[in-house]
Amino acid sequence: AYRPLHVVCTMASCTNVCVIGAGHVGAPHAIVMASKCPKVKFTVVDDDARTIAAWNSGLLPFFEPGMQELLDDVRSAGNLSFTSDFDSAVRTAEVILVSVSTPLKKSGVGAGYAPNLEHWESVARRIAKVAGGPKIIVERSTVPVTTAASMTRVFKSVCSHEVVMLSNPEFAREGSAITDQLSPDRVMIGGPESVEGEASVAVLKALYSSWVPTGRIITSNLWSAEISKLTADAFLAQRISSINAISALCEKTGADVDEVSYAIGVDSRIGRKCLTASLGFGGVCYETHLRNLVYLARMYRMPVVATYWDSVIKMNDYQKRRFANLVVREMFNTVGGKKLAVLGFAYKKNTSDCRFSAALDVCKVLENEQALLVVHDPRVSAEAVGVAFTRDDGSASLVSCEADPYVAMEGAHAVLVLTEWEEFTRLDFKRVYASMQKPAFVFDGRNLLDHKALREIGFKVYGIGKPQPPAETETESAEAAAESAAESQKRAGRILAGAAPKENAAALRAAAERALAQTPASEQPAGGGLERAATFGGMA
Ligand SMILES: NC(=O)c1ccc[n+]([C@@H]2O[C@H](COP(=O)([O-])OP(=O)(O)OC[C@H]3O[C@@H](n4cnc5c(N)ncnc54)[C@H](O)[C@@H]3O)[C@@H](O)[C@H]2O)c1
Repeated sequence: AYRPLHVVCTMASCTNVCVIGAGHVGAPHAIVMASKCPKVKFTVVDDDARTIAAWNSGLLPFFEPGMQELLDDVRSAGNLSFTSDFDSAVRTAEVILVSVSTPLKKSGVGAGYAPNLEHWESVARRIAKVAGGPKIIVERSTVPVTTAASMTRVFKSVCSHEVVMLSNPEFAREGSAITDQLSPDRVMIGGPESVEGEASVAVLKALYSSWVPTGRIITSNLWSAEISKLTADAFLAQRISSINAISALCEKTGADVDEVSYAIGVDSRIGRKCLTASLGFGGVCYETHLRNLVYLARMYRMPVVATYWDSVIKMNDYQKRRFANLVVREMFNTVGGKKLAVLGFAYKKNTSDCRFSAALDVCKVLENEQALLVVHDPRVSAEAVGVAFTRDDGSASLVSCEADPYVAMEGAHAVLVLTEWEEFTRLDFKRVYASMQKPAFVFDGRNLLDHKALREIGFKVYGIGKPQPPAETETESAEAAAESAAESQKRAGRILAGAAPKENAAALRAAAERALAQTPASEQPAGGGLERAATFGGMA
């Protein structure tokens, strides 16, 4: 018999919470909730057995500052578990938080813009199949507005038990997810405007109230909550694209983007955050959610709104391409066969996540130019880098990984700073300079390093939105270009002769063959090859 949820799910009876999806959103959130609600049992399920095994081992699937320590504490309290047993976790829970992935569709209607809701729908169907009683289902994944209505219909077509769908979007940032969860700016809970809806919102609100001040818990209607996450990410990304657009102008005019950013940021109407110019934003949220927003606007036939938000993505692509172009152009229009040391591959510091990393897009352009890229990142595994560069045809990539940053930079023609890891500022750049080819270039895509100090050592340094180093005279430039081209050919010859011990021999050999077959740099049109190469992953 039907029993209304607001009778079944009072806070007193909400003793079991199931979290579906043990990824970057689901797992840190469950760990924090379990630490703050010791009387509630949290069960995290995932359909990837390797992920569950990793959570149950000492080696976590990804890095998040403070997560390991908090997890160790929670484990000893005993109210958190990770399991593949979906059915029993769902059956015993009153509240189910769904944090499964919603990647962009790869084909069909809305490809590249619409979210793929396949995982969501299959989860809704499976919950409905095994529910065994009324459930509060909470959207934690980012989904298009009105998804809750579709999922309620899916649920009700399979199951006779009552269900209430809530939306509780995730605003915590990767890289500070634990501290953001412990002390959020706000928690947003959207629910249906009905008695059961309000009772269900109250249940979730009571859980958060264990540690979040009531004034920071916003309740709203379902659709406002669903659209707020897309809006928040779109606004944050838009600020980054805006300052990046100005950085391009700064480089042309001799202005310094950091000075401009400071001057506008102290205006309290603008504020200082998200105003750091860089080679572009990355990560699963900004680009995916902007694209989802563009898709929504198109779906509701609002082309002006769609074009407005699409331009934020276009500016980001422009910035990445501009940076890659700069590297090639300043290195005498050829990077073929040259070793380039890449410092940082994660999409930002303090995370091991490299999904939608700006570094990846820049590296792909340079790889296409036959550069020999050696990646060093303190947290991204060699396996993850390998996966990112796996070619569709299975051929070997020219990219290798190096755990020691000094080895990564030894013999390199250039150092590219692509992630703002603070430890890079502590490297001994005198030692690095001594070990590099000359001229030794630094392309600082995050304006992280001390450019003045690097120039004093002898580096040629390029930042983002910074006055460019004085141009060389034409003769100097031509001489350096000729020297560089000759060095590339020599290096390629050495590789062919088997003198490249550290890197992937087969990949290097292929690269070297291509470098030797290349037209001399002096005969190439400036940036010509790059324009062709500059198509970024995921772009239509
Ligand atoms: N990563 C972020 O910072 C962030 C922030 C806010 C919102 N989001 C949104 O949250 C959602 C999840 O993102 P994420 O970064 O945690 O993704 P993720 O890929 O790290 O984790 C998703 C997890 O869901 C699991 N999964 C997929 N289908 C499943 C199924 N049918 N049953 C059980 N488990 C399943 C996957 O195996 C994976 O472990 C997405 O909608 C994303 O847009 C992400």
